[in-house]
Amino acid sequence: MNHFQYRDGRLFAEDVAIAEIAAAVGTPFYCYSTATLTRHYEAMASALARVQGRICYAVKANSNQAVIRTLANLGAGADVVSEGEARRAIAAGVPASDIVFSGVGKTRAEMRFAINAGIGQFNVESVGELDVLNQVAIELNQTATVVFRVNPDVDAQTHEKISTGRKEDKFGVDIDLAPELFQRATSMTGIDPVGLAVHIGSQLTTLDPFREAFTRVAGMVETLRAAGHIVTRLDLGGGLGIVYDGEVPPEPDDYAAVVAETVGDLGVELTFEPGRVLVGNAGILVTSVIQVKETATKRFVVVDAAMNDFIRPTLYDAVHAAAPVNENPGSDTQTAEIVGPVCETGDILASDVQLPALTENDLLYLKSAGAYGAVMASSYNSRQLIPEIMVNHAEFSIIRPRPSFDALLSLDHMPNWL
Ligand code: LLP
Repeated sequence: MNHFQYRDGRLFAEDVAIAEIAAAVGTPFYCYSTATLTRHYEAMASALARVQGRICYAVKANSNQAVIRTLANLGAGADVVSEGEARRAIAAGVPASDIVFSGVGKTRAEMRFAINAGIGQFNVESVGELDVLNQVAIELNQTATVVFRVNPDVDAQTHEKISTGRKEDKFGVDIDLAPELFQRATSMTGIDPVGLAVHIGSQLTTLDPFREAFTRVAGMVETLRAAGHIVTRLDLGGGLGIVYDGEVPPEPDDYAAVVAETVGDLGVELTFEPGRVLVGNAGILVTSVIQVKETATKRFVVVDAAMNDFIRPTLYDAVHAAAPVNENPGSDTQTAEIVGPVCETGDILASDVQLPALTENDLLYLKSAGAYGAVMASSYNSRQLIPEIMVNHAEFSIIRPRPSFDALLSLDHMPNWL
């Protein structure tokens, strides 16, 4: 359930008409709903309460500070994968102690920053990283709290490019090496090893891969304990899928039941890193029609948003439902391709969409664009990054303005020989 609904044929975000925002800020833009963010956070939080899980929102899904703060105000910590994300989370008001630092390649500079900032947990992904983190912590006279991200060799049954838990993927350390890592860390003065982490992929629509991965992790906790190690924390990552186009993803309560069944009796603190499930359906992408172009075989609706603003359809063949902002119930619909102005054939936002007759400036929107939308945008084709808008009841606010062309051009500097 989300708060983007039609009223008398006009699309609203909560109590604000989308057309009103479009008139005020121009198109294209992302629009997020506070009520939907809140609803999704609360659904996850109440499901995970049965296992006393702590939510560290995966900031990579949508790192606008207003989004992070909305979730932090509800109680979320943050999962970050770079110094930039850590800085955003801290600036948005997340206490450093509620931040976990994930990622397969943290630089020394990032480690230094994170240790100095007091980041609560480091998810370490290799022996080499463990050694470097230890050195950096010792230099700073600090101890880094560490969990080891293990690779359980489980296929998440999701898109190839967002599957992270198979042996051939770059992520984590082979789960069977966890005892060696724990042993190694025990003698390190800069490291306090407390547990394991696992994240097998994103947009999972079945529970079986989670069950398999968590069961393997639980088995490894027993192995580590039998070897005399103290294991107090598990980080079970993110990955829960959402509805884009008719998927039936697991309910948060069913996910929590799998957690309880697999790791519930271990007596460990549990951390979760959900991203998409919190923000995905809390955002839409609004765009307007530039041209309708009929060719011998297709009807192309050329809009002012493009693959640089929203790369998911191009990169993952993701299907995002699209519809007009103003319903036109009497009108016949026709099959169309919604495409952007970027000079690439892959610049398709939605294929085989049934749309009514459209003309210049008509507004369309893509659903479920709150996760991995704005964060993955670029200024390819020298297009301006598009604004982000947040709605709260009857109010809206521009939470990232459209940069001016001057700002875009001033990023380049001319060398003195030119
Ligand atoms: N934790 C870790 C270590 C991760 O790598 C990720 C996502 C998450 C948590 C959050 O996963 P979520 O709950 O959002 O599934 N750009 C792609 C998705 C990439 C996901 C990367 N890692 C897309 O648009 O589908």
